[in-house]
Amino acid sequence: MEIKFVENKNKGKLPEASALGFGQYFTDHMFIMDYKDGKGWENARIVPFQNLSIHPASTVLHYGVEIFEGLKAYRRKDGEVQLFRPMENIRRLNRSADRMCLPTIPEDDALEALVKFVSTEKSWVPSAEGTSLYIRPFMFGNDESLGVHAVKNATFVIIASPSGSYYKEGINPVSIMIESEDVRAVRGGTGEAKCGGNYAASNRAGKRAEQKGYSQVLWLDGVERKYIEEVGAMNVMFKIAGEIVTPKLSGSILPGITRKSCIEVLKDKGYKVSERLISVDELEEALKNGTLEEAFGCGTAAVVSPIGELCYKDEKFIINNGKIGETTQMLYDTLTGIQWGKTEDTKGWTYLVK
Ligand code: PLP
Ligand code: COI
Repeated sequence: MEIKFVENKNKGKLPEASALGFGQYFTDHMFIMDYKDGKGWENARIVPFQNLSIHPASTVLHYGVEIFEGLKAYRRKDGEVQLFRPMENIRRLNRSADRMCLPTIPEDDALEALVKFVSTEKSWVPSAEGTSLYIRPFMFGNDESLGVHAVKNATFVIIASPSGSYYKEGINPVSIMIESEDVRAVRGGTGEAKCGGNYAASNRAGKRAEQKGYSQVLWLDGVERKYIEEVGAMNVMFKIAGEIVTPKLSGSILPGITRKSCIEVLKDKGYKVSERLISVDELEEALKNGTLEEAFGCGTAAVVSPIGELCYKDEKFIINNGKIGETTQMLYDTLTGIQWGKTEDTKGWTYLVK
């Protein structure tokens, strides 16, 4: 694929690590290409970071046809930059595209775009402990008419943001509220696609939880409001009587790449891992009888995040005395060790960006 390059002559500066937060600063360039009806993907380019100009009738503005991905570039101790399982993100992007009737991108082209872009922005990958360059590829329907139909034109963009930890708590336990009114997704809907609409639907509950002092909500299934699904921006796992249990991929939750990686690491270490339905009643029982030993979320932005408190119908439960548990810590250390190149990657999960 030919990728044109227009250099940004007015370069910005990587902020101090302590000022980064999540998703607030952006690098000098962006990747962009267009999908045109009858022509396919064209005009791939890396250009100065800038506002997008779209038609007021553009599909995305009216019918929310948008998908995205999230992955990170990590600065290793030796100064090199690497990605974590980028092909997994590319494959999920294409599955999301299929679900939303957006055009898919040939895997090799998507990888080339990603790697060339990250290579251009290498100086923006921070090096302080716990920081990384968060990369946000996204695609939206861009027909210039108001009819409701599968789109014929689309735009694909990659932007990047040097970031620190997603939660202000960092690796310290977060408090999560189990949501029993709103639902995020239903089987047959778009829950397993990474599309903007899923997040739009979740904001009301998220806002209520924040007002009560919780970081995010834990969703229940959309039909019976009975089974645990996932947290706002991460998948969830529990250690119950020594066994790791996590909601199975039923169609309404996001198939997380961190989730998949955690399961592999846990199995390697000899843990019993069950992907199954977990009812909120079972969880409540385990919280009450003391068999719930650990709870944590996992996701690219959140990494591995211990859950120290769960609130269900106004009842509060403290987990593991509000401290990070040994399995959660092991997963955090193993994954971040591989991601930041501190431990050997025996799984071939990392991708060096030259
Ligand atoms: N679930 C939701 C709703 C998310 O937004 C994310 C973040 O991407 C995840 C789970 C975790 O997915 P991944 O590990 O691929 O980042
Ligand atoms: C990610 O972890 O990459 C996510 O997409 C979460 C995000 C919604 C902040």
